[in-house]
Amino acid sequence: MIAARSFDLELAPGLIHLNTASVGPVSASVRAAVADAWMRLERDPVRMTYGREPDTVVSQADAVRGKVAALIGCDSDEVLLTSGTTDGMIKLAQALPLVAGDRVLMTDQEHEGGETGWLYRGARDGIGIDRVALPLGQTSAETLVARFAAALRPRTRAIIVSHVGSASGLRMPVAAIARLARDAGALCIVDGAQAVGQMPVDVRRIGCDAYAASGHKWLMGLKGTGFLYIARPAQERLGPPQWLLTRDYGGNSSGTGPAPLMVGLGLAIDRIDALGTKAVEQHNAALAARISAGLAVLDDLSMIGPRRGELASALVAARLPDAIDSRILRDRMRGRHGIIIKMAEKRWFNGIRLSPHIFNDAAQVDAALNALRIELDQFGA
Ligand SMILES: Cc1ncc(COP(=O)(O)O)c(C=O)c1O
Repeated sequence: MIAARSFDLELAPGLIHLNTASVGPVSASVRAAVADAWMRLERDPVRMTYGREPDTVVSQADAVRGKVAALIGCDSDEVLLTSGTTDGMIKLAQALPLVAGDRVLMTDQEHEGGETGWLYRGARDGIGIDRVALPLGQTSAETLVARFAAALRPRTRAIIVSHVGSASGLRMPVAAIARLARDAGALCIVDGAQAVGQMPVDVRRIGCDAYAASGHKWLMGLKGTGFLYIARPAQERLGPPQWLLTRDYGGNSSGTGPAPLMVGLGLAIDRIDALGTKAVEQHNAALAARISAGLAVLDDLSMIGPRRGELASALVAARLPDAIDSRILRDRMRGRHGIIIKMAEKRWFNGIRLSPHIFNDAAQVDAALNALRIELDQFGA
């Protein structure tokens, strides 16, 4: 296990954060480095914003594309820095040349940030949106892939899929789905918001054409940071041609961005890298298993995702009986116990989600389980 105490977080005293899947906390030293970068920038704004010398803030921000590339196994000219997953997914939806009658295929559990750009293309350009239903509680990768295969249509141009489902915590068999897309002549576009930083991600091994992710979740980077990978061959298929001009962060054709935040993202990546993504995954798997085991024995809850195996992740979700309002439960966990958990989106199920990360430990998990037990008892269920 990673020593949870070694993180210099600035969480309010006593607060237990078990919701990195929403946003992760930033280390004090990373935030201080960002403040320092911002101060350097404001002392010499034009040079620090546009100058390409190695000591400028914009150059240091641009170098973060290389760190992202090393983290996810691609080249830096396949990486664009963004403000988050939604930004990346919308860019992709705008860039794909689609004409009326073309179709895209996605699951019925995509996060709004991942699907919104495609829904817009659907409404504006007459693009058909097909959905793969993912019944909650899936435990077989083969069944999942077969569902995608059955939903492909002759004019399916892209498959859009979350690497890890934000509601269910389901870790999707994205490599098999990417193969399926390739065989069908479609692009495979992965929403990696819930994957990068909690486990090793290798975009070449996945074989996807594009992958969008957030810096402010599992990487514990600054809020408003993220990145987009587009494989070199897919760059040729994606318009507009500006893509080829705007990869440099803070270049003339890409405009002016919050370079100090990106410098901070680079430092956050360094930290995850130093721990090793495999070690992070193992730490989180142990805590997630502890949560699953603890939740499974609570009479009122039923588990949503797989508890272990290739489809499990560090996002652990459970359904509540209708009589228990997940919003009230979440608020009581926070107000009475100082424990941050997520209320599942009601359109999927009435329930809760816990997502432990490297700064959490077994004692915090046990405190959360104990608090849940107390609160569920109080509901009288
Ligand atoms: C699967 C998924 N996609 C997209 C997003 C949105 O990410 P961002 O805030 O970086 O745009 C989230 C956030 O929870 C998510 O879970």
